[in-house]
Amino acid sequence: MYIVMLGPPGAGKGTQAKKLAEKLNIPHISSGDILREAVKKGTPLGRQAESYMKEGKLVPDSIVLELLKNKIEEEKRGFILDGFPRNLQQAEELDRTLREKDKKLDLVLNLLVSEKAVVDRLSARLTCPKCGSVYRKGDASYERGVCESCGVRLYQREDDKPSVIKKRIKTYLESTHPLVDYYKKRGVLRDIPGEGSPEEVFEKIVDSLGL
Ligand code: AP5
Repeated sequence: MYIVMLGPPGAGKGTQAKKLAEKLNIPHISSGDILREAVKKGTPLGRQAESYMKEGKLVPDSIVLELLKNKIEEEKRGFILDGFPRNLQQAEELDRTLREKDKKLDLVLNLLVSEKAVVDRLSARLTCPKCGSVYRKGDASYERGVCESCGVRLYQREDDKPSVIKKRIKTYLESTHPLVDYYKKRGVLRDIPGEGSPEEVFEKIVDSLGL
C-alpha cells in the first residue's frame, strides 16, 4: 500500500507511521528524519537545509526531492510517507512518480489534533540523536533522558522550542493544510481523531483500514 500521513507538527505522524509500517511490513519514510540525518552528517544538502529547519520553514522543494526521490522511486512493495508531501508541488511530484511506476496513492491518513495538544506535545518531546525515536513525559526513557534502544542521551530538537513551534504551525496552515482539500477531492483522505493515547489512536487507524 502507498500511504501518506498528514497532520500538523506534533500530531503523532511519526509515532503512528512507525507502528503501521511494522504492522503492514512496509517501509516508513520520514522526510524530517532524512533531513536531520543530512544535517547531522554535514552533507552539502544538509548544510543548505539546516537554516530553514531551525526557523520552522519548509526546506526548498529541490533539496527535499533530491534527498527523497530515489527512496520513493525504489520502493516496490509500498510505503508510509511521513512529512512528505508538504505542499501542492510536492503532492504533484509524488503523483507523477507513482504514475511512472503504474502505481497510485491508496490512502492519506489525516491526524486531527488541536493546536493546544500540538504545542503541549512538542514542548515535552525528547528525541534520540541516533535512531530518531521520540519520547513523551511519563515514558521511562523520557524521565531517565536516555534512549531505550541506543542507550544514548536524548535531546530536545532545536525546532521544538516554543518560538519555532509557533512558526511551524503557521507554515503548516499556509503550505500543508491545503493538501487536505486536494486529497479529499481525490477521495483518498481519511480523517483520524488524533487525541487519546498513541495506542488508542493506532486502534482507530487499524479499524479505519479494516485490518
Ligand atoms: P518533521 O520532522 O517532519 O516535523 P513535523 O511534521 O513538524 O512533525 P514532527 O516530527 O514534529 O511531529 P509528528 O507529527 O511526527 O509527531 P510525533 O509522532 O513525533 O519536519 C521537521 C522540519 O523539516 C520541518 O519543519 C521542515 O523544515 C523540514 N521538512 C521536513 N519535511 C519536509 C518537506 N517535505 N518539505 C520541506 N521541508 C520539510 O509526536 C510528537 C510528540 O507527541 C512525541 O513526543 C510523541 O511521543 C507524542 N505523542 C505522539 N502521539 C501522542 C498521543 N496520541 N498522545 C500524546 N502524545 C503523543
